[in-house]
Amino acid sequence: MTEKDFLSKSYNDLPSEGKVTWKAPSNIALVKYWGKKANQIPANPSISFTLDACATTTSVSYTKKEGDSPQFSFDLIFEGKPKEDFKPKIQTFFERIEKYLPFLKSYHFIIETSNSFPHSSGIASSASGMAALSLCLMDIEKKLNGSMSEDFFKKKASFLARLGSGSAGRSIEGDLIQWGKYAAIEESSDLYGVRYPFKIATVFKNFHDTILLVHKGQKQVSSSVGHNLMHDHPYAERRFAQAHENLDKLKTIFENGDLDNFIRIVESEALTLHAMMMTSMPYFILMKPDTLEIINKIWSYRASTKVPLCFTLDAGANVHLLYPESVKEKVIQFIQDELVVHCEKGHYICDRIGDGARKLR
Ligand code: PMV
Repeated sequence: MTEKDFLSKSYNDLPSEGKVTWKAPSNIALVKYWGKKANQIPANPSISFTLDACATTTSVSYTKKEGDSPQFSFDLIFEGKPKEDFKPKIQTFFERIEKYLPFLKSYHFIIETSNSFPHSSGIASSASGMAALSLCLMDIEKKLNGSMSEDFFKKKASFLARLGSGSAGRSIEGDLIQWGKYAAIEESSDLYGVRYPFKIATVFKNFHDTILLVHKGQKQVSSSVGHNLMHDHPYAERRFAQAHENLDKLKTIFENGDLDNFIRIVESEALTLHAMMMTSMPYFILMKPDTLEIINKIWSYRASTKVPLCFTLDAGANVHLLYPESVKEKVIQFIQDELVVHCEKGHYICDRIGDGARKLR
């Protein structure tokens, strides 16, 4: 599909009002997206586990405006209170997606949104937030176009979410999502995420992700600045090629349930992401001393116990612990005994692989 396939015609019978609610999960990338071209096109393909507990719930109430209006009109309520500083992001999002949703200027919207995780946890809410909002808007569009297929609905929701925040395009469905053109997956696209089409061994089907909240403060560098630093980056081309190679390797790993090689790829991807940040100009470090302490403890724990526990990182200091269901008790014990001291106020979040966004009634 191309961008043109997501354009909509103008509509005749706009409903006068209504309300829709969607809950969309966050996701954690195994092969990282870092670097983009114009229009939120990723420089390399990525793959992620869809999460379950970390999610955003968004309601959109819409009321038809009198006459034609040249402006977008919306109120934003975050966790029960008006939130002016989130509005510019939504305004930019609406500007980007208007040509795909021509009804946007015909309504006044009240967008009420809340996260299942604390706002100050250092967990980015842009993926789940943009996914939930895109699903609400698609739900409205679906009412205007009754013949829309389920598959198109999901693809366009992912397409719109991606225009809000790249990784949000991977937060519509579960449980393993691939985004970005990749030769081995014919249906893959730079425009939206697709469900991973190949065999996945049972061991990967109920993976856990425990997120250690090392540093809850605001990020020093936004991900859009970080992506842009991949232009003129000395290692960019090699890194983009490596993402394709790692996806090739993961295919056999997923098929065979090969945890040892899974760990190698996932940890290398996390450290490569941070290495790209450390070697850009300007350079920056998002890991904290506690991030490194945790990584070293994981490595010695794994060496001495053979428990297949590994880590990954986002663009921040928090550490995501990934492990199969079968070692859950052991890992929780290890977290409590050794890792909790490195978490801000001892906080961590237990999450696991989920099956994607859902509509709430
Ligand atoms: O979706 P963005 O633009 O915030 O970028 C997110 C990038 C990483 O989280 C660091 C990696 C990824 O693939 O999710």
